[in-house]
This record gives sequence, C-alpha cells and structure tokens, in this order.
Amino acid sequence: MSRYSRITGTGSYLPPRRLTNAELAAELASQGVETSDDWIVERTGIRARHFADPGVNSSDLGLEAARRALEAAGRQASEIDLIIVATSTPDMVFPSSAAILQHKLGVAGCPAFDVQAVCSGFVYALTVADAMIKTGTASRALVVGAEVFSRILDFKDRTTCVLFGDGAGAVVLEASDQPGILATDLHADGKHVGILCVPGHVSGGQVLGSPMLRMDGQAVFKLAVGVLEEAARAVLAKAGRTEADIDWLIPHQANIRIMQGTARKLKLPMDKVVVTVDQHGNTSAASIPLALDSAVRSGQIKKGDTLMLEGVGGGFTWGAVLLDF
Ligand code: UT7
Repeated sequence: MSRYSRITGTGSYLPPRRLTNAELAAELASQGVETSDDWIVERTGIRARHFADPGVNSSDLGLEAARRALEAAGRQASEIDLIIVATSTPDMVFPSSAAILQHKLGVAGCPAFDVQAVCSGFVYALTVADAMIKTGTASRALVVGAEVFSRILDFKDRTTCVLFGDGAGAVVLEASDQPGILATDLHADGKHVGILCVPGHVSGGQVLGSPMLRMDGQAVFKLAVGVLEEAARAVLAKAGRTEADIDWLIPHQANIRIMQGTARKLKLPMDKVVVTVDQHGNTSAASIPLALDSAVRSGQIKKGDTLMLEGVGGGFTWGAVLLDF
C-alpha cells in the first residue's frame, strides 16, 4: 500500500492591530513619507495589513495558528511527531522558531526546525514534511508559516513598507493511504539574491549591514509571473493532471496583478483564485497558509477539492504543491 500525506486541519492567526492604507499613509506622512490609498490599491490590490505589537514574535503568531489547525484536525499537540516553521523573521538567530513553538505548545521530543525560503517558505516546508511522511520518518506533522515582517521594514522606504504585514498560518499534515499531496516542485536561483534581501548580519555583538528589507519590485515582478507558470505546469505534469482539474489556485499573496497574470497564463478565471492580499498584505511565508485557512473557513474550499499552492520570493526561490484537500 502506498503512503501519502494529507492535510487534516488548517488554522491561521492575525495580530489584532489592523492598519488600513489610509491609516498607514497618515502615519507615514507624519514622518515625511508620501503615499496614498489610491496608489497602493491600484499597484498592489492591498487595502489593509496587520502588525504585531512589540514583543510579539513569529512563534507567538505561529502558536495561535497551530492551536487552530490542531483543533480543526482533532489532534493534540502531543500527537504531533514533526514541527516545521517557515519563517524569515525568526524569534532569535537561534534556536529555531520551531523549537520555541514546540515548547509553547507544551510538548517535547519530536524534531522541530525552521525552513528559510522567504515567500516560498511554506511551499518548501510542506514539501519537506510530505517527503518525511512518505519515507516514514514522520506521521503527523505540524507545518507553520509565521512572520513579523513589520520588524524588517524601512518605514522611510515607501516602495516596500506599504506592501508587507504580519501573520501566521498552519496545517496538520498526516500520513494516509490516499493522496493528499499529489506532486511538488521546488527551485532556487541564488544569482538573484540582490533583488530581494535583508543584507545585514550579526557579528561581534553588532548588526553589520542593513537589517531592513530591500527590493527591486519590478525585477521581482517580472521573474515571479514567469516562474509561477513554470512551477504550476511542472506539478500538473508530475501528477498527470491539467489546469482544468484545479478547483482553487492559492498563490503567494504579494500583488493582485501577479496573481491575475498567473491565472491568465493558466487560463483560470479569477473566481478560482483565493485572494487575501487585500486584507493581509504580503505576509511572506505565512501568506499561503493564511489564504488556505481563510478559504477553508469561509466554505470556499471543500473536502476533495484540488488545490494548487504556489510560492515565490527571495533567494530567488519558487515552487508549487498540487494536492487533493
Ligand atoms: O513577496 C515577494 C515577492 N514580491 C513581490 O512579488 C513584489 C513584486 N513587485 C511589485 O509588486 C511591484 O513592482 C510594486 C508594487 C513593488 C511596485 O509597483 P510598480 O508598478 O512596479 O511601480 P514602480 O516601482 O514602477 O513605481 C512607479 C511609481 C514611481 O514613481 P515615478 O518614478 O514613476 O515618479 C515610484 O516612486 O510609483 C512610485 N511609488 C509610490 N508612490 C506612492 C513607489 N512606491 C510608492 C508608494 N506610494 N508607496
């Protein structure tokens, strides 16, 4: 009998502090930075984002999302035998946010580690968990995407600070004799490191270089649309499926125009695309599980639906996961 992995529960969490574009624009104006609701909506589709309060870390957001996913799966934290957290804004340099989350969940013993693939992080983490389940290394994984991107935003740089938000999403992924995850496809190309990065590092008790996010938005935009189409076609081919089999496309939520471009290339109507970027902004590794959970809880996504999850981001990294929910 074949061994597959299957999502048995989803959860997500947004910190309570919500800023509309107008509220953010007013805060930025007081620091001499000019932007507007019109510009942000027209260029990105973003209308609001959530920011965590000082002292609230990725593991805290991940904890709430994880509790909700466990509840949805009907599982206790003690039944989990693998924890993977996708994050680029970990609580500490080390240990991993996954180890910290494990302790906050009140459990110990199972392997716990972080995956660092920026906005592709959740797709990377899900692929690793799927492989570990298929090989029998794990049977019940908690896979989390959690970010506090507000900590690495330069609020003097209007080309980036209006785009990102904080949040977390999680799934419980369990061994099953039925798929589940049908196919995965991951890539990276480090030559593009400079177009999206936080170049600083810790050395000798200081942060050397800038600890703020930098992005060449147009370069990222152009690369994103091309690689998202390639990754989507690759997982469909691996699974022996076609675009017509996709019930829901859940792309990384960075910019509505990138999502529209991807949907167009795959000949999918926008009513098959889960869109939360308007309410969450870009939450990096949290964006896909946040979007997934919100569509599950709103009743859009139903048991048995075929889902295409797609991530793209810093590295440059990209990838896709095709699954039956
Ligand atoms: O999560 C990882 C993946 N990240 C992404 O996918 C991001 C991809 N890139 C994008 O989403 C878009 O490139 C942006 C939203 C970042 C920018 O949109 P754009 O249509 O490429 O705008 P642009 O950079 O060409 O800027 C157009 C104009 C510029 O003014 P000039 O030079 O034409 O006078 C900018 O200075 O818009 C100006 N601008 C702004 N104006 C008001 C840039 N940011 C702002 C702002 N408010 N916040």
